[in-house]
Amino acid sequence: MNDNPESILKLAQAEFASIMDATELEQAKARYLGKGGAITELLKGLGKLDPDARKSHGAAINRAKEGVEAALAARREALAAQKLERQLSQEALDVTLPGRGQDVGGIHPVTRTLERIQEIFSSIGFSTVSGPEIETDFYNFTALNIPEDHPARAMHDTFYVDDAHLLRTHTSPIQIHYMMENEPPVKIIAPGRVYRVDSDATHSPMFHQVEGLWIDEHVSFTHLKGVVAEFLQRFFERKHLEVRFRPSFFPFTEPSAEIDMGCVFCEGEGCRVCSHTGWLEVGGCGMVHPNVLKHVGLDSEKYLGFAFGMGLDRLAMLRYGVNDLRLFFANDLRFLNQFK
Ligand code: DAH
Repeated sequence: MNDNPESILKLAQAEFASIMDATELEQAKARYLGKGGAITELLKGLGKLDPDARKSHGAAINRAKEGVEAALAARREALAAQKLERQLSQEALDVTLPGRGQDVGGIHPVTRTLERIQEIFSSIGFSTVSGPEIETDFYNFTALNIPEDHPARAMHDTFYVDDAHLLRTHTSPIQIHYMMENEPPVKIIAPGRVYRVDSDATHSPMFHQVEGLWIDEHVSFTHLKGVVAEFLQRFFERKHLEVRFRPSFFPFTEPSAEIDMGCVFCEGEGCRVCSHTGWLEVGGCGMVHPNVLKHVGLDSEKYLGFAFGMGLDRLAMLRYGVNDLRLFFANDLRFLNQFK
């Protein structure tokens, strides 16, 4: 065993200097200053020496002990400083770097279109109502005077949930719900999601429609034309937007018409969007069929009115110049960011 205090001190100094870790350093300390440590052992041995030798040897051991303690303290401090340095460099924050900025979202073009439609109709006295997306055969077809054998009822056109339920194929069933629960006068629009087995650039299995309904004692086809034309002119912000009503057929209206407006892209000259006709089809309409009024318990001798249904996504496409309906539902930020 080494009993030279100075050489023990040198050993300790060298060992401490090579240690890189605080816990290891404390373990090394025990080997010198702990219970069975080298310095402690030397101190224990002092008792066996005669007084003179004890004095000089004791002084040497104490110097060595102080030296070990000083080396230990210095190393502790150095390790702590290193640790802090490491931590600071890891957590360094370069305040001169450019900021990340905040990305503000936008309103989806379909929602924006819907808000516009609501605003315009509200200003001419229509309130906005909604109805369920899962419907029964009665609300979606029967009450709307759609016959049992109508092709729209077929599996390849309609999503059936089970034998009794289906995803509504249009917003027209909202007319039925509303008239069953409310007395005339009825003056509503009813926007919402609708579903059909159909998918290509201009058809999506889920799309949006907006339904309109005005029932009272003296509502005429003239009112219908006025309301629809007023709406389209305001929606497209055109003073002289041409609107025409083309005879058509829907089971729930009589007479029925298709609503066309002058092409907003070519101003009627003819272009790809309007298939060179100068006209764009935007919806269907007509005077509510007496059978529909009967189904909701209204006296068709007393009340009459008009209804219309328009493609909301189509209005959005025409207004914002979007040529593929699927873009609305793909959630591609490159597309959506254009509507901030
Ligand atoms: N429900 C029809 C459809 O989805 C659109 C429609 C046409 C609604 C005429 C109406 C209407 O209210 O009067 O094709």
